[in-house]
Amino acid sequence: MSDLTIEVHDLTKRFGKFTAVDRLSFTVKRGEIFGFLGANGAGKSTTIRMLCGLLQATSGTASVGGYDITTQTDMVKQNIGYMSQKFSLYDDLTVEQNIRFFGGIYGLSQERLQQRMAWVLEMADLQGREGSMTKTLSGGWKQRLALGCAILHEPPIIFLDEPTGGVDPISRRNFWELINRLSGEGVTVLVTTHFLDEAEYCNDIILINAGRLIASGSPLELKTTYMTTPLLEVTLTTGGIVEALELVRTQPWAIETSVFGTKLHVMVKEEEAGKDAIRQALEGKGMTIARLERIVPSLEDVFLYLLERDTPETGGPVPR
Ligand SMILES: Nc1ncnc2c1ncn2[C@@H]1O[C@H](COP(=O)(O)OP(=O)(O)OP(=O)(O)O)[C@@H](O)[C@H]1O
Ligand SMILES: [Mg+2]
Repeated sequence: MSDLTIEVHDLTKRFGKFTAVDRLSFTVKRGEIFGFLGANGAGKSTTIRMLCGLLQATSGTASVGGYDITTQTDMVKQNIGYMSQKFSLYDDLTVEQNIRFFGGIYGLSQERLQQRMAWVLEMADLQGREGSMTKTLSGGWKQRLALGCAILHEPPIIFLDEPTGGVDPISRRNFWELINRLSGEGVTVLVTTHFLDEAEYCNDIILINAGRLIASGSPLELKTTYMTTPLLEVTLTTGGIVEALELVRTQPWAIETSVFGTKLHVMVKEEEAGKDAIRQALEGKGMTIARLERIVPSLEDVFLYLLERDTPETGGPVPR
């Protein structure tokens, strides 16, 4: 049995003349947590809907769990769980009614439904709330219920489209514990998120922009492969960070400049010359530097760099 559970080759989706997904190719290994990242409108939800057999591809091929998404759509659907971006729960049903509804869709027997219902209620921490209207639940509970309903039939592959949007940090962390647990049990999880701290939990990641793949690898590979030029972090004692940003970003030696909280991140060609140039630029304007050091880029640094490089107005397309 192949170790790959999702294989995507040149997958393309056009809406009229607009290409939302553009010859996308990638593979996902069995049991891994796979991060599917990209800015708003990059084509993530469209790709997921094609992989779930809910939207027809314009061209290209893909298989999910060994089944072709175009010719074996029913088998694909039986083998996946899908949590859509807008949690697909019925607000006017109770918790229990929602679970029963999904149990019906998946064709679970009464006995299995009872077992799975107990499992979902326990997993989602919803015991005692079976009769609550779904619309009265907080974001975190709704999210866990939506996950429970999506995996009621214990599919080996699950697609989670922005599962943590609008959910508080504690619920997000609990949710990731659940995802880890599922992955530990051998379930393959493909997840989209705009939180880059969450992307760090993924085994592999792809980044797409305007429907095209622009980077792939583990979090560590992304940080070390794509940004080989030094990244310097500046902490100021006196002087405003926004003012410092404006000063540095117009300099020819600053390849990329961005603010990270109260610090400035500057990508330069060469470490020592870059440090000297930063000191001159800032101290020349009366600012005092508390710390200036080379750092390992965060995923956020890498993605900002890659996305800006890939956007024609700012840097021109990436050669490929
Ligand atoms: N049915 C449709 N008809 C026309 N255009 C569409 C349709 N569905 C999506 N699009 C367009 O395709 C592009 C990709 O949309 P998609 O929803 O896949 O992005 P996304 O990466 O999921 O974004 P987000 O992070 O905001 O959820 C967008 O420009 C969107 O407007
Ligand atoms: Mg989306």
